[in-house]
Amino acid sequence: MKLRSLDDQLLRDLVREHDTPLYVYHADIIRQRIQDLRGFDVIRYAQKANPNLGLLHWLRGLGLKVDTVSAGEVYRALKAGFTKDEIVFTADLFDHSILDILGRHNLHVNLGSPDMIEQYASIRPRQNVTLRINPGFGHGHDQRVNTGGPESKHGIWHEQLPRVLERAAKTGLSVSGIHMHIGSGSDFKHLSRVRQALSTAALMAADTVTTISAGGGLPIPYYPDEPAFDVIRFVQDWQETKSELENTLNRPLSMEVEPGRYLLAEAGLLLTEVRGTKTSGSIDYILVDAGFDNLVRPAMYGAYHHISIIGKDDQPTAPRVVAGPLCETADMFTQEWGGFVKPRPLPEAQVGDLLCIHDVGAYGASMASNYNARLMAAEVLVEGRSARLVRRRQTFDELIAQEIDLL
Ligand code: LLP
Repeated sequence: MKLRSLDDQLLRDLVREHDTPLYVYHADIIRQRIQDLRGFDVIRYAQKANPNLGLLHWLRGLGLKVDTVSAGEVYRALKAGFTKDEIVFTADLFDHSILDILGRHNLHVNLGSPDMIEQYASIRPRQNVTLRINPGFGHGHDQRVNTGGPESKHGIWHEQLPRVLERAAKTGLSVSGIHMHIGSGSDFKHLSRVRQALSTAALMAADTVTTISAGGGLPIPYYPDEPAFDVIRFVQDWQETKSELENTLNRPLSMEVEPGRYLLAEAGLLLTEVRGTKTSGSIDYILVDAGFDNLVRPAMYGAYHHISIIGKDDQPTAPRVVAGPLCETADMFTQEWGGFVKPRPLPEAQVGDLLCIHDVGAYGASMASNYNARLMAAEVLVEGRSARLVRRRQTFDELIAQEIDLL
């Protein structure tokens, strides 16, 4: 069993005030995770994990910088108070909206495809840039989030780096950073290959490189019996890589890490109310008022999120399926990849019970949608005794605000 890190009474009070479904984030956990990574020179938050304005602002206050992947994320970062030199834009292509922004703001870019070089140089010549390298292998909890190897669209293929460096030099760009994001999993053998590949790439850009980035991809234990990630070893290993490179290059480097999940995931709970129970054939269902419009990871990746019911932690369990309100069979929080139902030992639930879906601080609210015309949930950041609303529930008027009726 996983413990809820926030007091049950507090969770009940928050639901009374903000209704369900409700995202609640526990600031202490985020602070602790940030602390774990202080061995890096820069912690660059990958805001795709949760781009909430209030959270971004708060994270900036803790000394984090930010990674952005779209014009909208840049807009959010600027609104949240990040200065231009605290923002990096990372992508494998420039769309027109981001080129427009880059034309107006001088942001550092991390280029994942060769054609971006000339496109960027034509609007901002003589700049420092970072190159994101695909080292030819990858890692991920699902093939759809594997970000290395030939089947991943991400990054500049490692064998093309010499040619890409020539192209950069020709346009007047200087390659000051080498970046790799392929997810480390908890496999340190794999991590050592990543570190080796990053060093090789950094040495190819030896004349100009000043920054290396380990990317993100640090795992968290989603299952209750899963061991925690050995973050101390992770930091030490990267520090070793950094000092070896510094010795070879004979100058100091800055080393970045770019996590999203590791910082936020475990801090988040999705609170949802039980609205019914039923049995179909041999399967017992608990029906709740959150759906995959709120949290899509189980439906999209077959991802496991631990589930608990407030006030029932010590009650006997039986296999049960937790499903939401959407008109889709895939709207289940207990499923395997491929959409197969996976009943899970859970206590008996009654209408009105509060169910908690755990570890949803990253890629929960950020991947939410308005499917079935459901409203986006509210989000609350709890710090000490204060609970601050960082997003209020959407309204029906907001739901249709951009649409144009044909009267
Ligand atoms: N940096 C880059 C360039 C990335 O592409 C990503 C994630 C990160 C950093 C942060 O990765 P993290 O530390 O959060 O693992 N929606 C999926 C995750 C997709 C991640 C894509 N890139 C999920 O729900 O698991």
